[in-house]
Amino acid sequence: MFERLNTPEQIFSFKLGSALTMERDTLAMLVDLQDEARRPELKQLLAEHAEETRQQISMIEQCFALLDEKVDASPCAVVKAIAAEGKATLKKTDDSLVDAVILAGALETEHHEQAVYETLIIHARARGAASVAGILEANLAVEQSAGAKVKALAEQIAVSGVAVPTEGMSRGAKAGIVAGVAATVGAAAAAALKAGDHHATETAGTTTVTGSGATAAGSTSSATSTTTGTVPAGGTGTSAEEFNDDALQARIEESEHRARP
Ligand SMILES: [Fe+2]
Repeated sequence: MFERLNTPEQIFSFKLGSALTMERDTLAMLVDLQDEARRPELKQLLAEHAEETRQQISMIEQCFALLDEKVDASPCAVVKAIAAEGKATLKKTDDSLVDAVILAGALETEHHEQAVYETLIIHARARGAASVAGILEANLAVEQSAGAKVKALAEQIAVSGVAVPTEGMSRGAKAGIVAGVAATVGAAAAAALKAGDHHATETAGTTTVTGSGATAAGSTSSATSTTTGTVPAGGTGTSAEEFNDDALQARIEESEHRARP
């Protein structure tokens, strides 16, 4: 490893080594998160990107070979920090909600990786290392594609319901799911309107309901989801607090069904 960086070429090689560490740390994180993820589609996405990341590591090693330099992994603190932050957040996150935390960390990682490759490509081109630039462009394209997939899944679960059913779920988590599902189907808003309430706030979970005239907007805000919907006045919905376990299960299944295209 370089003690000091005295030339642009040394900076490039140092940053290429940081990218190698970045990808190795990302691979370790992706493998760990596959066990934590709840949704099969998220597990699959993480597994696919882990395989792509193995290829990216090999491509960076080829860059060193093309530059006639030995493979040298420089420090990279960013992915380690994202992984540590994600791990700490997962520890205090209810089992039903972990996918949202995983997707947040994954999207943050993908954006960082893209910035790293963009800078490396600029400098590889500037020093006339066209083959190295080509390899780095291929790695950047992989990150852009992975980032788009992560973002699409994050948007999908944010709209259709972040929570997934879990066994032995806490009462608080159950209430959170009920509130989220109720907002998704507009049930709380309908219940508020049915009661003639033009400005009501539900206490279960974090559901807030406002309404007037023929329509009402129901919005739910929590650490991991925001859902907005419009329902007809006089709907047949039920207040979140009135769901029993059977109704809860039915709502969860409905929400899960919506989540799957
Ligand atoms: Fe990546």
